[in-house]
Amino acid sequence: MPYPSLPEALSQQDIDTDLQTVVLQLADTSIAISQALAKGALAGVLGAAGAENVQGEDQKKLDVIANDLIKAALAKLPAVRGLASEEEESVVACNTDGRYLVTFDPLDGSSNIDINSMVGTIFSVLESSGSGEVTEAEFLQPGRAQKAAGYVLYGPSVMLVLSTGKGVTMFTLDPDSGSYLLTAGNVAIPSDTNEFSVNMSNQRHWASGMQRYIGELMAGKDGPRGKNYNMRWVAAMVADVHRILCRGGLFTYPWDDRKPEQAGKLRLMYEANPMGFLVEQAGGEVWTPEGKILDIQPDHIHQRVPVILGAAEEVTTCVSYHQE
Ligand code: AHG
Ligand code: MN
Ligand code: MN
Repeated sequence: MPYPSLPEALSQQDIDTDLQTVVLQLADTSIAISQALAKGALAGVLGAAGAENVQGEDQKKLDVIANDLIKAALAKLPAVRGLASEEEESVVACNTDGRYLVTFDPLDGSSNIDINSMVGTIFSVLESSGSGEVTEAEFLQPGRAQKAAGYVLYGPSVMLVLSTGKGVTMFTLDPDSGSYLLTAGNVAIPSDTNEFSVNMSNQRHWASGMQRYIGELMAGKDGPRGKNYNMRWVAAMVADVHRILCRGGLFTYPWDDRKPEQAGKLRLMYEANPMGFLVEQAGGEVWTPEGKILDIQPDHIHQRVPVILGAAEEVTTCVSYHQE
């Protein structure tokens, strides 16, 4: 049985052709990004771009290259009304008659670029009821309103993982044909796990609920949880969440007290919401200490949130410790 192609799989998903073209365009562009990543030092694309993005983070050359490729590809689609990116200060108007808005993290995990480790592209597609001038306000929709969300993982194989609200499907890029082929469907995250993912070096800065929760996992068999846990941290959310979609686990990037005015590190509209959409579609839970991430009414395109996601039972336990 041949693997179905991405266009074939999309045509089965009961979504309009405009939305299909947006997803296909993102998929095509990711192939160009994967080629730039594969050439690495040979193409002189590694290292810093010498600038900061709007969030005060150093941009890598590949952050800028990936951003420009996606922006140019989306801007020429009649279906795309506007876009917002981690690397763009403000929303970008595309085709005012278009119906869809796209938010994206062009390259996630960019500290991994220079060590030839995994990175990804994250995207979220929203529908707009706006006309005329494109405004930030029309982007500020809760994650639950997403029409499609997904990511591309640039790993040993390049994979596209997608949801249009009917479960999660995974596609693998066939380097011979240059096309994405469906390799996994019905993705499901087990409610229980013995694996967690967090940057432990920030432990002393977390809220007491998170200190207690991770402390209990670390205590393993000798602690109240009565079993040993394993820890993994790739430092690219795409790769850490991909592992959770493949074999389960809990991922968190908690609030911490170093920048108490900043809710968390990860960005709501192009990291937490799209990854959260996939995780909920796979049966997992996606929370801040206060509530479900997909229910948050955003107030800014670059808004940050603390994130606790993955295995339903673990997320529920972790959140409950914050509420005591
Ligand atoms: P980005 O490269 O788009 O700025 O995102 C990096 C994020 C996320 O992918 C990852 O989980 C986290 O930052 C890694 O943070 P640490 O550097 O604290 O490990
Ligand atoms: Mn990111
Ligand atoms: Mn990024």
